[in-house]
Amino acid sequence: MREGDLRGRRVLEVGCGTGRLAAALAERALAKVWAVDPSPEMLAVARERAPRGVAFKQAGAEALPFKDGWFERAVTMLVVHVLDRPLAFAELRRVLGSGGRLVVATFDPAHIHGYWLNRYFPSIAEIDLARFAPADVLTGELRAAGFAEVRTLALHQRKTIDRETALERIRGRHISTFDLIDETEIEAGLNRAVEELPEEVEYRIEWLIVVASCSPGS
Ligand SMILES: C[S@@+](CC[C@H](N)C(=O)[O-])C[C@H]1O[C@@H](n2cnc3c(N)ncnc32)[C@H](O)[C@@H]1O
Repeated sequence: MREGDLRGRRVLEVGCGTGRLAAALAERALAKVWAVDPSPEMLAVARERAPRGVAFKQAGAEALPFKDGWFERAVTMLVVHVLDRPLAFAELRRVLGSGGRLVVATFDPAHIHGYWLNRYFPSIAEIDLARFAPADVLTGELRAAGFAEVRTLALHQRKTIDRETALERIRGRHISTFDLIDETEIEAGLNRAVEELPEEVEYRIEWLIVVASCSPGS
């Protein structure tokens, strides 16, 4: 939130999912928020929990239903790995006005290398290293889309979850990468996790934050 300079601004969140960030942007950053996601199921949950001041639309990042230059800020969290990024970044650039700023929060490839599920599901690392682009690739794509200045920073978080929560997440296939793994691997990985997971699972999240700015007067 600090990187976005969001207070009171017109902010677009792309790929809002169940709307947690959109709600926080409206409540904590006092931004005027528009949030889009192509999934009607996600939007239904998001609409239920949203505070006043958040408007939702069903749309994908590659075709945003907004006028040129309408937004002052745009944010996207854990979404750019599923997008057609050149199209999506061009759209984000189009809907941001002069001096506008986009903040992309995604996983750094270091996060994929150290992911706590790799031990149980060996395909995850290969699949996600192909999906989560590193800083230099995202920087090049954002510049090509017309952003004048792009900078990146790293954030680290330590998390602990209990064994039952970890197993619930696996059984609920809580990350989209599970959709790309075959059932035999999922079953074997779950059995191994049941046998081996400790009472507490500690892991780190290695965030990559990319801040892309439009030049003033453009
Ligand atoms: C991992 S979830 C992240 C959701 C939310 N940003 C969060 O951090 O909780 C990825 C989201 O991207 C959405 N998504 C998938 N394809 C998309 C697209 N083309 N444009 C925008 N969002 C998309 C999915 O529906 C899903 O809600």
